[in-house]
Amino acid sequence: MDQIKVLDKTFKKFIHFVQIQEAIARIAAEIDRELYGKNPLFLGVLNGVFIFAGDLFKMIQTPCSISFVKMASYLGTESTGKVHQLIGLQEDLTDRHVVILEDIIDSGLTIEMLLEHLNNHHTASVRIASLFFKPKAFKGHFSIDHIGIEIPNEFVLGYGLDYNGFGRNYRDLYVVTKDEDELVR
Ligand code: IMP
Ligand code: MG
Repeated sequence: MDQIKVLDKTFKKFIHFVQIQEAIARIAAEIDRELYGKNPLFLGVLNGVFIFAGDLFKMIQTPCSISFVKMASYLGTESTGKVHQLIGLQEDLTDRHVVILEDIIDSGLTIEMLLEHLNNHHTASVRIASLFFKPKAFKGHFSIDHIGIEIPNEFVLGYGLDYNGFGRNYRDLYVVTKDEDELVR
């Protein structure tokens, strides 16, 4: 399927699953090389990351563990603006080599908030691995240690990423079509 419809939008195939798997294999090799024997703890940011985390985890050779967290954002009072709460962290991170796993980094705000939370946890190290990255949208002040594939600043879906909850189940990555694309069809 080269074109799919999800809710009210049309998407076209953008990155084939084979290319995605190759990017994940490269990230897994990088992490193994850098953290072998250090018992890394992977920390996946739900929901979108679940497919990437599963595929990556199977390719990791070093002994390791995995856990998942969620960043919930809601509007606080007028003065505090948007409040980001960390949900689901049960692990003791003391002296652990943490690898944050994200499906995609866009503005970088989610990870920035998560890093702030992790600051108080006396970790041995914190690394960041993101399958997709939109460099043109990025406003973060942190560096990303492992990037799978850089993509343009456009809305994508599939391979765990959703549009209003739908479309996570596609194995390839799709990009939203613009009106011009629709006319060409
Ligand atoms: P950030 O905080 O702006 O970096 O956004 C990170 C989160 O927004 C990701 O974990 C995704 O859940 C979601 N997101 C960002 N861009 C897209 C996209 O193109 N499609 C689907 N979800 C996205
Ligand atoms: Mg996400």
